[in-house]
Amino acid sequence: MPKIGEEEVQAVMETISKGPLTNALGQGPKVLEFERNYARFAGVKHAVAVNNGTAALNAALLAVGVKQGDEVIVPSFTFIATAEAVVFAGARVVFADIDPETYTLSPEDVERVVSDKTRAILPVDLYGYSADMKSLREIAEKHGLALVEDAAQAHGATYQGKPAGVFADVACWSLYASKNITTGEGGVITTDDDKICETLRLIRNHGEREKYTSVLMGNNYRMPEIEAAIGIVQLDKLSSFVAKRRQNAQQLTKILQQTKRLKLPIETERNQHSWYLYTVKLIDGTEEERNQILKELKQKEIGAEAYYVHPINTMEFYRKNYDTRKLPETEKAAKQVFSIPIHPNVTSEQIEYIGKTLLTLLH
Ligand SMILES: Cc1ncc(COP(=O)(O)O)c(C=O)c1O
Repeated sequence: MPKIGEEEVQAVMETISKGPLTNALGQGPKVLEFERNYARFAGVKHAVAVNNGTAALNAALLAVGVKQGDEVIVPSFTFIATAEAVVFAGARVVFADIDPETYTLSPEDVERVVSDKTRAILPVDLYGYSADMKSLREIAEKHGLALVEDAAQAHGATYQGKPAGVFADVACWSLYASKNITTGEGGVITTDDDKICETLRLIRNHGEREKYTSVLMGNNYRMPEIEAAIGIVQLDKLSSFVAKRRQNAQQLTKILQQTKRLKLPIETERNQHSWYLYTVKLIDGTEEERNQILKELKQKEIGAEAYYVHPINTMEFYRKNYDTRKLPETEKAAKQVFSIPIHPNVTSEQIEYIGKTLLTLLH
């Protein structure tokens, strides 16, 4: 649920009337300003703005050298774009299971599927909680692999006291309309590595450093100036958005702690949630039971939703083209989780209503 104010409207009006609307190399003044601000926020040297989070993932994989014949390890319990980016880079997706506590990639299972073809690990900060990047970093270093983080949902999250993304070689963010901050459609790639950054800028714009001279295979992943103008304002508001989400999450947790039927989301001082989604798990619940709760919540006008009920390895393209292993924790989570609205437009009174209503539906 985007929260757009008068400041964003002003920024768009100013950009439309004064221009430019874009830049031939993807580096207009608003894009450059947004990138400087985003790099500072993400605690790294470079940010490269692109036109969506899927493009960010695809460019990042190419920039770290993923190519045809390589394998990239990804969770199956995520949004489809994570796997798509691997396929579009020409590589093969290898699915690994998740940790049942955090729903993020299990380092132990990653170790099980590393092969001599593995080129990269692509963990996802699912629901806005960082993957176990320290353990994944160790595995990546041990096997000489690139670590690309899908931080599409993690704006405002921290890992070991630092902004999400800093433990990866490259992190990829989405600015889609549902995210913690948005430019409508949009994405950003962050990295500390000068060489990777230069490659990313080339990939973003047809491999061109100068117009009409392409030095490597690229695409049109440029972010328009109007989007960057919105992004600058949204980024300034991010900490207040996340604070409101956290306040809603904490209030909801207090209410839902009264039941033993739900596993509630966690955060610690050093591993802070972005609270993109407040996701609970129905302990020992069946899929039918979970779906019935969702149906009743919706009947009571509560916009609860279950995300990733079809793990990617069960979807048609991947089922047909990949001989995937069993992923027991993924299967279980897909049947038992659901998310409850806590975005900044949800009031404290609404949280009270949502929490109490949900308690009445649990038997
Ligand atoms: C985990 C994850 N990865 C990738 C994406 C893709 O981002 P986009 O929709 O901006 O292409 C999204 C968001 O939609 C996402 O939630």
